[in-house]
Amino acid sequence: MNLRVVTYSSFASPGLQPADFEEILTLSRANNARDAVTGLLMFNGAAFTQSIEGPTAAIDRLVMRIANDARQCQMEICDDRAIDRRIFPDWTMGYVRLEGGWLEGQYGIADALSRDMPPPIREVLMSMASTLPFQ
Ligand SMILES: Cc1cc2nc3c(=O)[nH]c(=O)nc-3n(C[C@H](O)[C@H](O)[C@H](O)COP(=O)(O)O)c2cc1C
Repeated sequence: MNLRVVTYSSFASPGLQPADFEEILTLSRANNARDAVTGLLMFNGAAFTQSIEGPTAAIDRLVMRIANDARQCQMEICDDRAIDRRIFPDWTMGYVRLEGGWLEGQYGIADALSRDMPPPIREVLMSMASTLPFQ
C-alpha cells in the first residue's frame, strides 16, 4: 500500500463551538476507520494543525473535504510525503488541546505534552506544534 502523510495548519472559523468540535472528531474517527486513515489533530484555541496519513487516494480526498469545510479557513499544507510506516498507527484521530498558557508563550510545548509519551511521538508533536500559526 502506498502510504502518505500530509500535515497542514488552518484557523478555526469564527463562531466554532465546542459542540461543533465534538462533531468533527466523532465523524472524523468514523470516516477515518472506514478509509484506513490515521492521524493527529492539535488545537490551541484559535488554530489547528493536523497530520493525516493513509493510502494516497484517501488522503487526497480527505484534504479536499477539509479544504472545503467552512469550519476552518486559511488552510496551508506544511508537509506532504511518502512514508513506509505509519506514525500514528493506533489513532483514527488523536487529539491534543494545547492550553492558553502555551499560546501566551508562558511555557513551551514540551511542558504541555505528557512526560510519558514515547520520544518519537513527542518529537513529531513538537514539530507539528511549531507549524501552528498565531494570531
Ligand atoms: C479541523 C478539521 C479536521 C477534520 N478532520 C477530518 C478527518 O480527519 N477525517 C474526516 O473524515 N473528516 C475530517 N473533517 C471533516 C471534513 O472536513 C468533512 O466535513 C467530512 O469529512 C465530511 O464527511 P461526510 O462526507 O461523511 O459528510 C475535519 C474538519 C475540520 C474542520
